[in-house]
Parts: sequence; C-alpha cells; structure tokens
Amino acid sequence: MFNRFGYYFVKKTMSNYNNFPRYLASKKSVDDRALNQRAWDALAVSLDTYEDVEILEIGGGIGTMIERLLERHVLQHVRYTLLDEQSENIAAARERLPKWAEENSFVVSWEGEKLVLWKNGQVTKVAFLAEDLFDFLACRAADEKYDLLIAHAFLDLVDIPATLPKLFELLKPQGHFYFTINFDGETIFEPAIPHDEEIMAAYHRTMDERIIDGKLSGDSHAGRHLFSHLREAGGEIVEAGSSDWVVFGDENGYPADEAYFLHFIVDTVHGGLDGEIESRRLDAWASVRHAQIESGTLVYIAHQLDFFGKIP
Ligand SMILES: C[S@@+](CC[C@H](N)C(=O)[O-])C[C@H]1O[C@@H](n2cnc3c(N)ncnc32)[C@H](O)[C@@H]1O
Repeated sequence: MFNRFGYYFVKKTMSNYNNFPRYLASKKSVDDRALNQRAWDALAVSLDTYEDVEILEIGGGIGTMIERLLERHVLQHVRYTLLDEQSENIAAARERLPKWAEENSFVVSWEGEKLVLWKNGQVTKVAFLAEDLFDFLACRAADEKYDLLIAHAFLDLVDIPATLPKLFELLKPQGHFYFTINFDGETIFEPAIPHDEEIMAAYHRTMDERIIDGKLSGDSHAGRHLFSHLREAGGEIVEAGSSDWVVFGDENGYPADEAYFLHFIVDTVHGGLDGEIESRRLDAWASVRHAQIESGTLVYIAHQLDFFGKIP
C-alpha cells in the first residue's frame, strides 16, 4: 500500500498507528480548514451550472470528499463514482457514508450496488470502485466520460506529466477538474528539535525517489509543478491557491481526531526513513514528537496547493 504518508505501510503492521481508514477520517477536519476557498468557490459555481452531473473521484479513500460536498450543499443531481485501489478504503466508505447520511437527515437506499442519498428533492447516487486507477484507465469504455474529475491528496503520488493527459481523456469537452491538497515541498514541525532538517530532507527525498511498477512516481514539489504540467496537458487553470495543513492544539489536546492524524504522520515519517537515518537519532526524534502530541504542544504545517480548472 502506498500514498504520500503510507507507501511503506507494509512495514506499519507492527505500529500502533496503522489504521489507514482512521487516518483518512482524522484528516477530514484538517482538510476542511485547509481547502483553498477561491478554488472551492469556483468549483461550486461550476456545479451550479449543471442539471445532472457525473463526477469521478480518483484515490477517493473512504469518501470524505462526498460528505464535504453534501455538507456544503454544492451537489444537486449527481452520479458520483468513488474509485480507490484499496478495497479496505472502499469497504469503509460503503459502511461510513450511509451512516453519515442518515445522521444528516438524508433518505438512504441502495439501487443494487449504488448508494442513493436523497434530501430536499436532490439525489446523489454513489458507485464504489475498488480498482487501481491505471487498470481503470486501461479497461474503461472510450465513451465513458465525466463532467468533473476530483483528485484530493492524490496527484503527488503519481507520475503527473504521464498521468494528466490520460485523466483529461476521462472528461467530456469543457469538463472540469478539481485537484486539491497537492504537496509542495514544506513540512514544518514546531517547536524545532535536533535533526529536524536532516529528517525532513530525507523524507522529501523519499517522495521524489519513490518507484512504483518500475517508474518514478511522486513529487515533493507537485504543487508548484502542476502549473506547468496542467497547461502542458491542455488544461486551463481557473483558480489556484494554497491549502496548507495547519494543526495545533492546547493543554486539552487537538480538535476531533487530529491527535491520531499527527501520530500517524510522525509514525509514517519514522517508518519511511528506516535505513535512511541512523536509527537511534530517528527513534529519538519520533519519540519526542509523539510526546509533544500527547502534551498538545506539537504544531504541524504542510504546504500544499489546490487547483480548479477545465479542458477545452
Ligand atoms: C493520501 S490518500 C487520500 C485519500 C482521499 N482522497 C482523502 O483525502 O481522504 C491517497 C489514496 O489514493 C489511493 N491510491 C493510490 N494509488 C492509487 C491508484 N493507482 N489507483 C487508485 N487509488 C490509488 C490510496 O489507496 C489512498 O486511499
């Protein structure tokens, strides 16, 4: 399993912080604060122009973006395909979304494998696909096209210049893309402690040197590089802006489940640098950071960028 914080998850089985669906759930409140408002508003305006809209979300995890779109009332009549290669995530989405919807006063039913959410005359139908994106791209029917493509905390995991043209082929003419939480080279933990710089540099290097299926996949500066990659693939950027994660607590701890989010990230840096950094230094660094989370004193900032745009 891999993702920005988890491509070495195979090593995580012994860790206390190895529940990826819980990590994705804990990330929701952090993402809610972080998402760039201008890019979001442009997305909302475009969704308002559709009577019926077909949305594909790639690397959609446990479906928190669907919840967010519904919570913020930007979906009307929607067919939404949630694709993620991890069947564990899709299973969590199938369980979590109906519960969330009932708690939020939707009428919930199933049409075969599709979840149907109805409220105030508006219907969202969700299809769940546990499939690798590249298999999906290779096997889909050529006329299977979408109005909107969403990739949230995903693009920085793949070979972006090679992948974007294939993604744009999934869009109908004048279709839109909403690509958010693209990491852009800055990870900050405060207060500073010994070996931060060495550890962060090695951590970012692992993103740049990641090889999946024999190909370099990942970019620690994906955010800034997307400006040129999107244009070269034929996309027009309508809005772009920062979507930094900023997580801080106090003597009462952190909001929602954000302490778990922080433990998971520290643990993933720790596990990912196994063999890269002298183990006593790395262990000491991680144990100080975990202790700071317990006392509510760790501040974590990651610089990221969001993009909303369209194709011709
Ligand atoms: C950082 S997570 C983000 C998940 C979700 N978008 C969110 O923010 O909650 C990246 C997700 O991409 C999925 N993923 C990674 N590579 C993939 C691929 N080739 N095809 C489909 N999904 C993939 C992972 O399983 C993971 O759930």
